[in-house]
Amino acid sequence: MKAIHITKSGGPEVLQLQETPQPSPTENQVLIKVKAAGVNRSDIITRQNTATYGKGSPTTLIPGLEVSGEITEIGSALKDKKVGDNVCALIADGGYAEYVVVDSSHCLPIPEGISLTEAAAIPETVFTVWFNVFHLGKLQPGEKLLIHGGTSGIGTTGLQMAKAYGCETYSTAGTEEKVEFLKNLGVDHILNYKKEAFEEVWKDEEIDVILDMVGGDYTQKNLEILNKKGRLVYINGMKSSDVNISLRTIMAKNLTLTGSFLKPQTDEVKTEIAQQVEKNIWPMFHSKKIKPIIYKKFPLAEAAEAHRLMETSEHIGKILLVMD
Ligand SMILES: NC(=O)c1ccc[n+]([C@@H]2O[C@H](COP(=O)([O-])OP(=O)(O)OC[C@H]3O[C@@H](n4cnc5c(N)ncnc54)[C@H](OP(=O)(O)O)[C@@H]3O)[C@@H](O)[C@H]2O)c1
Repeated sequence: MKAIHITKSGGPEVLQLQETPQPSPTENQVLIKVKAAGVNRSDIITRQNTATYGKGSPTTLIPGLEVSGEITEIGSALKDKKVGDNVCALIADGGYAEYVVVDSSHCLPIPEGISLTEAAAIPETVFTVWFNVFHLGKLQPGEKLLIHGGTSGIGTTGLQMAKAYGCETYSTAGTEEKVEFLKNLGVDHILNYKKEAFEEVWKDEEIDVILDMVGGDYTQKNLEILNKKGRLVYINGMKSSDVNISLRTIMAKNLTLTGSFLKPQTDEVKTEIAQQVEKNIWPMFHSKKIKPIIYKKFPLAEAAEAHRLMETSEHIGKILLVMD
């Protein structure tokens, strides 16, 4: 089969289309003929740091954390799936390929009204938002949620999920075009962080949960605009992961500071997230309250172009790689 390999650490040019052996499912896995694969910011970090990832293991050199496609083979122990089923799935790596194997319990049916290609944009963002905003952040209907980087894949998904859950939504973005897009998406409060300081504009808003991927000097500012018993959840520190904060702010308001990486969670945790999102979030797709936002699709062979686009941060929503 053909797959994109990270041939060494470096820029997008190290992503190369190569022939590689097709994987075989173990007893609890399925083999998926991939229709489309989602591109995620984490793939860029993996590409830049391949030297420090799973040395010597060829499968770790094929990036890709989510796919959609058709099941073409099932493990001997499986009863709940059959050849021919269309699914989308969260995977640890290997998505930029014509075929990938995945634990059956990390596959979900394609939501009604969503095409097989579009479904590749769903697993990584929905799983991440569910685990961080709803599980760790304990967001409740009627509460206020702020997501920084609102037009990211994570932001466009998380803001829609929170709105459909009955929450008031806040977000920041870096251009007027992105601000306009978020308004049309139904986000309640948006500001262009290059023109206005969110910690000033929203200082009296008493926000309950903040999902942040920026870190650095945002951290203390986030703590300051949180409500009593507010929760600040980290999924990255794109500005910096080393931060200066005042513990006094946390103690004065009984705040919780937490965060997680999805990829290293155990298979059991990922299975539990899959069950929770199918029960709680899939109905929101069915009722058309939420939808994947796709910015651009590239053929598999143009994965380097897809990474170049993501690195410009011009995109709004998800970038996909699509098979022939
Ligand atoms: N912990 C986890 O398990 C986990 C899982 C998935 C994703 N993530 C993280 O969540 C974030 C979003 O992921 P994604 O795939 O949705 O990314 P994405 O679509 O590439 O979006 C990232 C956006 O963040 C904004 N941004 C703000 N500050 C930035 C900075 N200093 N450098 C670059 N961009 C900045 C940019 O929009 P503006 O133009 O508005 O600035 C950019 O479009 C990433 O940081 C990713 O690593 C973490």
